[in-house]
Parts: sequence; structure tokens; C-alpha cells
Amino acid sequence: MRLTVLVLLLATIICSNAAEINSSIEIIRPANKALYVGENATFVIKTHSRKIDTIIIEQDNNITTKILTKPTKQTYCKMLHIHVGENNISVRAFEKGNAVAVVDRNLYFLSELFEGADEPEGYNKNFFHIDKNENQCKACHNMRSNVPTDGEAFEDVTKTTCYTCHQPMMRVKNTHAPAANWLCLDCHDGKSGEYNIEDEGKSKYLVRDPVAGACGNCHDTVEGWFMNRYTHGPVNDGRCIRCHNPHGSNNEFFLRKPIWDLCTTCHAEKANGKHIVSSFVFSRNKGAHPTKAPKDPARPERSFACSSCHNPHGSKFKFMLVGSLTDFQICRKCHVNY
Ligand code: HEC
Ligand code: HEC
Ligand code: HEC
Ligand code: HEC
Ligand code: HEC
Ligand code: HEC
Ligand code: HEC
Ligand code: HEC
Repeated sequence: MRLTVLVLLLATIICSNAAEINSSIEIIRPANKALYVGENATFVIKTHSRKIDTIIIEQDNNITTKILTKPTKQTYCKMLHIHVGENNISVRAFEKGNAVAVVDRNLYFLSELFEGADEPEGYNKNFFHIDKNENQCKACHNMRSNVPTDGEAFEDVTKTTCYTCHQPMMRVKNTHAPAANWLCLDCHDGKSGEYNIEDEGKSKYLVRDPVAGACGNCHDTVEGWFMNRYTHGPVNDGRCIRCHNPHGSNNEFFLRKPIWDLCTTCHAEKANGKHIVSSFVFSRNKGAHPTKAPKDPARPERSFACSSCHNPHGSKFKFMLVGSLTDFQICRKCHVNY
């Protein structure tokens, strides 16, 4: 007798839970606890009830995406912009204003700029472009690549098979020519390199890591940088993408952050805005030189920041300075009276 009550009770709990949580919507992608190295995460949501009229995706930074569903359509795709670190995203389905289902996803965006920090516990990098995953999309999307690999460009980039899914990626102010022309395979040749060899075969579109060789194919200055007497740590590792987004960004030179913020992300001790350059000169300014100003006297069209004095890639001068420190030669680039 008691057992039947228990079983009944258990059954009701399970059923009501199931009904409340996820019977009427299903998240095909992404998996919970997915780790991203880019700032876009695609949600593919399937509805199992025709009564659902609205889907609302809520991100923990107050960004909400509302999708009005159609009775004839079951699958809804949305590429979301995620922020650095842990993201809690909840997908709710509504019928006439009442929430009937909710499914949560925890995702993690590990930015290139913070690589080297510990990978977050419990999250897994899962690549998309393998047959098993692509098969889930084939019914509606052309999953074959028609990207030219012979150096020719597309006349109409919207005809790339990659475009339908990845065009949100290119909605930035400054776009990098090979990405803007959708010559994705110039870099994404599917091969792996020194640092991502463990990812071999996990995606059709891997990029060799380090990527500097691919950059050097088009930027012939790169080779010279490695001959510099003083080369910057991340350049020496060939990790151009620590600082540059290879596709584009809202900052100059497709940088991941404005220059001063970029440099002080890794050189946090310089973020106090004061830089002890040659302390005896700076008794007036508490022994420090400013590192940020609206205008760079040596490059009037640019603002004054770390790269006004340091070449971010390297140079023949110590500390990668843009001129020699002996005789204050570098100082005279901006201060004529030194
Ligand atoms: C100049 C080289 C280059 C070109 C051109 C390029 N990529 Fe990338 N892409 C990279 C590198 C490098 C990464 C970082 C790889 C990593 O960290 O695993 C990357 C990462 C990605 C990622 C995953 C992370 C993110 O940033 O979202 C996607 C998706 C992507 N590329 C799509 C594309 C598409 C689509 C195109 C064509 C429009 C393209 N790429 C063109 C170099 C390039
Ligand atoms: C039932 C058809 C269907 C299936 C299955 C489907 N999609 Fe889509 N998807 C579409 C349509 C239609 C669009 C065009 C966008 C729109 O107007 O809704 C789209 C758009 C997209 C976009 C662009 C979204 C944006 O924010 O611009 C992405 C990314 C995407 N799909 C990924 C996928 C992936 C990944 C799969 C497989 C796991 C998949 N889709 C399966 C129909 C489908
Ligand atoms: C059906 C939609 C769809 C199409 C078409 C598509 N992609 Fe993707 N791609 C995705 C999704 C989804 C991801 C995983 C990242 C995310 O969640 O947005 C991804 C990830 C990637 C990545 C990162 C590595 C990986 O495998 O996860 C690269 C690089 C990439 N795509 C390049 C391309 C290129 C190049 C093409 C065209 C030849 C292409 N994609 C076509 C949906 C698509
Ligand atoms: C297929 C050739 C090609 C490859 C590969 C390539 N680039 Fe470029 N890049 C160009 C072209 C062409 C331009 C000039 C047009 C523009 O600004 O987009 C450019 C411009 C740039 C600029 C802006 C330069 C300026 O003076 O404004 C930066 C920064 C840059 N690339 C970085 C990179 C990095 C980092 C890589 C490797 C991840 C790379 N590029 C790989 C062709 C390439
Ligand atoms: C530590 C961050 C950082 C790294 C790593 C880095 N860059 Fe840069 N890059 C910058 C900054 C900052 C600028 C703007 C320089 C300025 O203000 O004059 C720049 C400018 C550029 C330019 C345009 C101006 C020029 O000097 O030619 C190109 C092209 C470029 N980078 C390519 C690359 C390539 C290729 C790599 C990898 C070999 C790389 N960068 C690695 C920060 C970086
Ligand atoms: C991705 C992290 C990263 C970013 C971003 C970065 N750096 Fe560095 N930087 C390093 C590393 C790593 C070293 C090598 C440290 C060492 O060997 O002591 C270094 C070394 C230096 C040095 C030489 C220090 C010495 O003692 O010789 C200077 C100068 C420097 N960085 C300036 C800059 C400037 C200017 C920027 C912005 C354009 C910048 N860094 C952005 C990681 C970074
Ligand atoms: C006015 C020119 C100037 C600017 C701007 C500047 N630096 Fe320097 N930096 C120098 C000089 C000169 C040195 C050589 C050491 C000295 O004389 O104290 C140096 C040394 C360094 C060093 C190595 C020695 C140390 O103190 O750790 C790093 C790292 C560094 N700078 C990073 C930065 C960063 C990051 C910024 C931007 C926030 C920046 N610098 C802005 C001129 C400058
Ligand atoms: C790339 C340009 C640039 C270089 C190189 C440079 N400075 Fe400056 N310096 C500036 C700017 C910009 C300011 C701020 C001017 C202002 O606030 O009016 C400044 C301010 C100063 C000041 C006044 C500080 C104050 O707040 O009163 C002194 C002194 C100074 N610099 C000395 C030097 C010395 C010494 C060097 C060489 C080690 C040097 N500067 C290299 C651009 C530069």
C-alpha cells in the first residue's frame, strides 16, 4: 500500500517536472557546459507543441532575443553574442503569455586574451563541423563548402555556403579583407599545428596554431619581425590572434580591445596610467610619464597610447621601443626640446 503511494507520488513528480521543464522545447545546440573560443554561440531550438507562440532567450547581461513562432515551423536558429567568462542563458517558451517551458544553458567564452588562465572546470570545447553534427542541419542548410581555394574571390559573398550561418560574425565596424571576402579556407585549412595538435580531426575547418605562418602568407613584414633583436612574447609564440581578431573588430587594426586596454590586460601593473620611464626627469609628475592622451604628437592622426613608444611586435631597441633611449632619441620624437 505505502509502496504504491510512493510510486504514484514519484511518477507525478517526474511527469510534472518533465512537463514544466522541457517537454515542449528541445535545444539541439549548444550542449550544456560548452566552451567557446569565439564570441558567437548558435542556438538551434526545436518546438514540440504547436501552441507555443513565443520563444524568449534571456542572457545574464539583460540581452533578450524574442522569436515569434509560426505553427508551420518547428526549428528556430539564432546566433547569439556571448560575453567573456561564464554565460547563463535561459530559453523560455510561451503560450498566450504563459511560460510553459524553460531550458537553461551554461556556456563559457574563454577569450584568446585570457588564454593561459586556467581552463574553467567542467566545460568542454566541442567543435561543430563534423559529419555527425552537420547531418542535423542538412535538411535546411547546404553544408558543403563552395569557398574557392585558388586565390580567386567571390563575386557575391552572400552565395558562400558559410554565409547563411556565419554572417552575424562579420557585423563589426572594421573587417579583415580575407574574411570580408569570405575566403575562409585561406586560414581554415582543417590542419593543426604545434599548439592544437590534440584537436586534429575534430573539425573540418581548424586553423593551424600558431597562426603566424598563415598571416605571413599575405603580410610579408611578418618574417622580418622574427629577426628583430627584441620580439614581443605573444608574437614570438606566433599567436597573432591574442591581440587581433582574424575576422575583424570594432577597434583599429581589428584589435580585440583598444590599444591601451589591450596592453594593460596582460601588463596589468601598467594600468595605473603612470609609467616610470626615466624617473629623474619625472620628479614633476610623481616620477612617471603619462601613457594615454587624445593625441600622439609623433602621429597626429592617432591617439597616444602604449604603441606610441613600443612596437607591439618587436624592434631592434630594448623593450621594443620605437627609438633608442640613449641620448633621449626616442623622447625627441615627441618633445623637440630634449
Ligand atoms: C586570416 C585568417 C582567417 C580567416 C580569413 C578566417 N578565419 Fe576564422 N579563425 C581564424 C583563427 C586564427 C581562429 C581562432 C582559432 C581558434 O582559436 O581555435 C578563427 C576562429 C573562427 C571561428 C571560431 C571562433 C570564433 O571566433 O567565432 C569561427 C566560427 C570562424 N573562425 C569562422 C570563419 C569564417 C566563416 C570565415 C570566413 C568568412 C573565417 N573564419 C575566416 C582565422 C581566420
Ligand atoms: C528546419 C530547417 C532548419 C534546420 C533543420 C536548421 N536550420 Fe538553421 N536556419 C534555418 C533558416 C530558415 C534560417 C534563416 C534564418 C531565419 O530567417 O530564420 C536559419 C538560420 C541559421 C543561422 C543564422 C542565424 C542568425 O542569427 O542569423 C544559423 C547559425 C543556423 N541556422 C544554424 C543551424 C544549425 C547549426 C543547424 C543544425 C544543428 C540548423 N541551423 C538547422 C532553418 C533550419
Ligand atoms: C548550418 C550552419 C553553418 C554553416 C552552413 C557553416 N557553419 Fe561553421 N559553424 C556553425 C556552428 C553552429 C558553429 C559552432 C559555433 C557556434 O555555435 O556558433 C560553427 C563553427 C565553425 C568554425 C569553428 C570550428 C568548429 O568546427 O566548430 C569554423 C572555423 C567554421 N564554422 C567555418 C565555417 C565555414 C568555412 C563554412 C563554410 C564552408 C561554415 N562554417 C558553414 C554553423 C555553420
Ligand atoms: C589571404 C591574405 C591575408 C591573410 C592570410 C591575412 N591577411 Fe591581414 N590583410 C590582408 C589584406 C589584403 C589587408 C588589407 C585590407 C584590410 O585592411 O582588410 C589586410 C590587413 C590586415 C591588418 C590591417 C593593416 C592596416 O594597416 O590597417 C591587420 C592588422 C592584419 N591584416 C592582420 C592579419 C593577421 C593577424 C593575420 C593572420 C591571423 C592576417 N592578417 C592574415 C590579407 C591577409
Ligand atoms: C601584443 C599584441 C599584438 C600581437 C601579438 C600582434 N599584434 Fe599586430 N598590432 C598590434 C597593435 C597594437 C597594432 C597597432 C600598432 C600601432 O599602433 O602602430 C598592430 C598592427 C598590426 C598591423 C598593421 C601595422 C603594421 O605594423 O604592419 C599588422 C599587419 C599586424 N599588426 C599583424 C600582426 C601579425 C601578423 C601578428 C602575428 C605575427 C601580430 N600582428 C601580432 C598588436 C599585436
Ligand atoms: C596576450 C598578452 C600580452 C599582451 C596583450 C601584451 N603583452 Fe607585452 N608581453 C607579454 C609577454 C608574455 C611578454 C614577455 C614577458 C617576459 O618575457 O618577461 C611581454 C613583454 C613585453 C615587453 C618587454 C618587457 C621586457 O621586460 O623586456 C614590453 C615593452 C611589452 N610587453 C609591451 C606591450 C605593449 C605595448 C602591449 C600592447 C600593444 C603589450 N605588451 C600587450 C604579453 C602581452
Ligand atoms: C612615452 C613612451 C612610453 C609609453 C607611452 C609607454 N612606455 Fe613602456 N616603456 C617606455 C620606456 C622608455 C621603457 C624602458 C624602461 C624605462 O626607462 O623605465 C619602457 C618599458 C616598458 C616595459 C618593460 C619594463 C617594465 O617597466 O616592466 C613594459 C612591460 C612596458 N614599458 C609596457 C608599457 C605599456 C603596457 C604601456 C601602455 C600602458 C607603455 N609601456 C607605455 C616608454 C613608454
Ligand atoms: C610618442 C610620443 C611621446 C614620446 C616618445 C615621449 N613622450 Fe613625453 N609626453 C608625451 C605626451 C602626449 C605627454 C602629455 C602631454 C600633456 O599632457 O600635455 C608627455 C608628457 C611628458 C612630460 C610632462 C609630464 C607631465 O605630466 O608634466 C615629460 C617630462 C615627458 N613627457 C618626458 C618624456 C621623456 C623623457 C621621454 C623619453 C623617454 C618622452 N617624454 C617620450 C608624448 C611622448
